[in-house]
Amino acid sequence: MIIAQKNGRNTIGAPDKLFGVSAKAKERISQLGKDKVIDSTIGVLLDDDGQLVVLDSVMKSIRALNPEDYAAYAPILGLPQYREAVKKAVFLDDMPTDCFVESCYTPGGTGALRNAVSAYTKPGDQILVSSWHWNPYNLIAAELGRTVRTYTMFDEEGKLNVASFEEELTELLKNQDETVIILNTPAHNPTGYTMTDEDWDGVLSVIRKFKDKKIAVVVDIAYLDFSGDAVEYRAFLKKLTGLPENILPLIAFSASKGYTMYGMRCGALLCMAPNQEIAKEFVDVMSVECRASWSNGNRAAMTALANIINNEELFAEVKAEREAYLNTLNHRSRIFMEEAEKIGLKTCPFDSGFFITVPCEDPDSTGEKLQENNLFAVALGKGIRISAASNTDEQLRKIPSILKAALK
Ligand SMILES: Cc1ncc(COP(=O)(O)O)c(C=O)c1O
Repeated sequence: MIIAQKNGRNTIGAPDKLFGVSAKAKERISQLGKDKVIDSTIGVLLDDDGQLVVLDSVMKSIRALNPEDYAAYAPILGLPQYREAVKKAVFLDDMPTDCFVESCYTPGGTGALRNAVSAYTKPGDQILVSSWHWNPYNLIAAELGRTVRTYTMFDEEGKLNVASFEEELTELLKNQDETVIILNTPAHNPTGYTMTDEDWDGVLSVIRKFKDKKIAVVVDIAYLDFSGDAVEYRAFLKKLTGLPENILPLIAFSASKGYTMYGMRCGALLCMAPNQEIAKEFVDVMSVECRASWSNGNRAAMTALANIINNEELFAEVKAEREAYLNTLNHRSRIFMEEAEKIGLKTCPFDSGFFITVPCEDPDSTGEKLQENNLFAVALGKGIRISAASNTDEQLRKIPSILKAALK
């Protein structure tokens, strides 16, 4: 370091792995052409021509904004109509009546996760996440002076490993009185796993055991709107009410994928508080969290989203347009999974979403072998992540055998 402080960070200046592989893919494409190279590094939904999918119905709402919608400040916690709209975006027509729901604007799901960790843990605390996880959880925790503890996500049968969850939570809570648990479901990144009813019951019954601890359970729903049937995939929300008062369910909402508003930084943190005091405390503490990190949010994004959700016709249009893309996405991953099964390629338990992960012992060297065969994918943790979101049917049909050969 020269003048800046290291503050325990050990990756400053290190090359960005994902960016590195992605740059190599682009270079190979420029040498050999698009049809000879598969770039599976991209984490956004692309159409079959490789163009970013942007929902026309969402653009309609953005284009209808006034100059002030872009230029004026928004209140610290977000525009009132936005704070209401995100509740509807999460719960649709099934607004819970047996808990106190509050919300605040955050720049994407990232901001929501940041606020949750900052508000509900202390410096030095550990938070709990699954072994397979979205890497920024580590950075968010570290930048706030917290660390991440992991439990083994899957058992031998490919089910959520509730025993490991209990073991790690028990160990973690021996040293602290509060924690945040992040559950990324449905359509988990990077595996595509969706917690089942049985998983939820298991996890919640473990959490209930810690009666004298304060536990915030953050459900990271970044991929909810690109998982499956909107009502069926929201059924888990019902399990988050009626819990003891020491457990606070929080929802990290993101408009990045579901509304293709990635760059507009539009998200929210919601609480499903068991009583009014805890809901009020949420609002009070979020005012400080927001003020001290990004201050006011993106008013244009908030207005565009609120206008969609408050306009029945437009909201229906968004849902219909999204559903068509969801079908495309599910079709792509089905092709991959069928092909993988046919040739005996083992994947992490997959349900839906942008990504599929193939576990392997040495992901870095496997990744390099893939590159020799003009397939570029991200090595993470103990696996290779394939992006169904950004590859075509034809590419996804080819990828399993390339992977299988590299693994040999
Ligand atoms: C698992 C997961 N959570 C949260 C996010 C947050 O995204 P954003 O901040 O763009 O809303 C992402 C984005 O890739 C993600 O993959």
